Amino acid sequence: MEYREISIDDTDEVRTVTIKRDNPLNPITIDLLSEIQEAVNNSGERIIIITGSNKAFSAGADIKGFMDIDSRKAYSFAMKGHEIMNFFNSYPRPIIAAIHGFALGGGFELALACDMRVAHPSTVFGLPEVTLGILPGFGGTQRLTRIVGETRAMDLIGRGLRFNAQEALSMGVVNYIAEDYKQKAMEIAMDFAAKPVQSLKFIKHLVRSRPDDMYTMEAEYFARAFDHPDRREGISAFLEKRPARFTKRKQ
Ligand code: COA
Repeated sequence: MEYREISIDDTDEVRTVTIKRDNPLNPITIDLLSEIQEAVNNSGERIIIITGSNKAFSAGADIKGFMDIDSRKAYSFAMKGHEIMNFFNSYPRPIIAAIHGFALGGGFELALACDMRVAHPSTVFGLPEVTLGILPGFGGTQRLTRIVGETRAMDLIGRGLRFNAQEALSMGVVNYIAEDYKQKAMEIAMDFAAKPVQSLKFIKHLVRSRPDDMYTMEAEYFARAFDHPDRREGISAFLEKRPARFTKRKQ
């Protein structure tokens, strides 16, 4: 397969997948996620590092594209995202996110779907979807809550707060902060490479797998947000660089 949105660098043990979109904020699309899935799947079961380029790991889904899709398309978008994020869980070897710049929205959810995260000290994290009149749709409500607990998750996701690398470290969202975050990710990958493959595979499965139908519910709620007028208001407000004026309507 020819890759258009990513590039690949292989060593004997490690495949580094770099997100390289035309837009320097690396917005997430299904095409991008499909390429990442293909690159992981065809890696010869190497350990994987996923990283960004330009200004960001990824600033999330393409907000402009959210203006015109309906709830049916929003549902299939979220379900496709879940399929790919869940595939990371079933991949038998460790996947490490090496993050810089911005990890927002779907970009942060991509990092959360990895097994470990290493961040540059200036990285900004967040799930700001609520400020756009929608909600996270790629598993963020579930994965971030598992990591930080319900109390913090309600604050971070319910208010759409951004947080920095130091805060991410203190909440256990990232494993390490490093100026040379890609080198640090490579050191971790090489340590994993020295470990027994079967033991590590079983450990990953036991640590990462949970029976969970909440992802489907998240996709359903994500889709319902697209039927509500607050979605159009939230996205217009972002694009027009003004505060959103949400309705008080419950549904
Ligand atoms: N999708 C599509 N376009 C985006 C985008 C996204 N996720 N994030 C930013 N852009 C666009 C902006 O609309 C802007 O376009 P313009 O130059 O035509 O006005 C351009 O990228 C640069 O963004 P800007 O906000 O001016 O840059 P910044 O450096 O001041 O801020 C961010 C960068 C990432 C903090 C800010 O753009 C932001 O908050 N983006 C939205 C993140 C988000 O909500 N993600 C979740 C999506 S579900």
